[in-house]
Amino acid sequence: MDSSLVLPTMPERPNIDPSIDVEAEIERLRKERNAVILAHYYQDGEIQDLADFTGDSLGLSQQAAKTDADVILFCGVHFMAETAKILNPTKTVLLPDADAGCSLADRCPGDLFAKWLEQYPDHTVVSYINTTAAIKAQSDIICTSSNAVRVVESLPKDAKIVFAPDRHLGAWVEKNTGREMVKWPGFCVVHEQFTARKLVQLRERNPGAQIIAHPECEQTVLDMADFIGSTTGLIEHVKNSPEKVFIVATEMGVLHSMQRHRPDATLIGAPPDSGCECASCPYMRLNTLDKLYVALRDMKPEITLDEELRKRALKPVERMLALG
Ligand code: 13P
Ligand code: SF4
Repeated sequence: MDSSLVLPTMPERPNIDPSIDVEAEIERLRKERNAVILAHYYQDGEIQDLADFTGDSLGLSQQAAKTDADVILFCGVHFMAETAKILNPTKTVLLPDADAGCSLADRCPGDLFAKWLEQYPDHTVVSYINTTAAIKAQSDIICTSSNAVRVVESLPKDAKIVFAPDRHLGAWVEKNTGREMVKWPGFCVVHEQFTARKLVQLRERNPGAQIIAHPECEQTVLDMADFIGSTTGLIEHVKNSPEKVFIVATEMGVLHSMQRHRPDATLIGAPPDSGCECASCPYMRLNTLDKLYVALRDMKPEITLDEELRKRALKPVERMLALG
């Protein structure tokens, strides 16, 4: 892993009256504010359980595009809440912890990206949704891991393509579309930690287990997978598969939803190559129930965006959403 990356530390507990029933207060404030609570599948189970809608990045941006709530409490990371704001300029969008970033988005700054793109003036720019508004504003179309292949296939056959910022997702899209792309060399700190070596060991201990993986994993890991899919793709696979034991190479939060659909299945989170037993996104983990309550109570941290930037970032997001 890149040693210059600064990862968030353990979530701090906000100073709130210990006699408060936080869940009941969230319930009350959600009604009072006319708020919708959106949660990514990587959030803790208790957050997923109280959300109005739980989904992957694509599902959540579709929900954000159609909500009639006044307030969107986005339980995910910054780029997800920012995408909700791009789609809803007049609504209040709250993120429980303002520091909930993403290694992909944080390591692809707008100014460096603009300079890099100067080398590829005649290319179509496809950017993963895990980017800031500054990158979206320089892109022709956005994709998520659910629709990346479809997005690239929607481009003219002779289009030259730049793909940013995840190099592994980019390589997987190349493999599935037969299209060559210029790739920004970004990576996810969670998915990059899975290794083929650890998977081989785990499979030896669990013969017959199916390995399933997110396309942000590196190629040697994907080569071992029986199924590769986005967060929703992986959950749907487990839901509908006749198999009973799964080794899951993605963020451990998805196990909550998988287990709910398949209480009979044995789900084994693939361990990262770091000594930890489970792969947990340190940014997602910054959001806690206490912080959800404080965000609804104080109506902050709020996502704000320069209007000109928002309009430029909106176009490629809308182009993706129009694909369905
Ligand atoms: P999804 O597009 O599958 O929701 O993934 C988002 C993400 O952050 C993956 O690490
Ligand atoms: Fe970003 Fe990786 Fe966390 Fe997803 S799991 S939000 S890509 S750091």
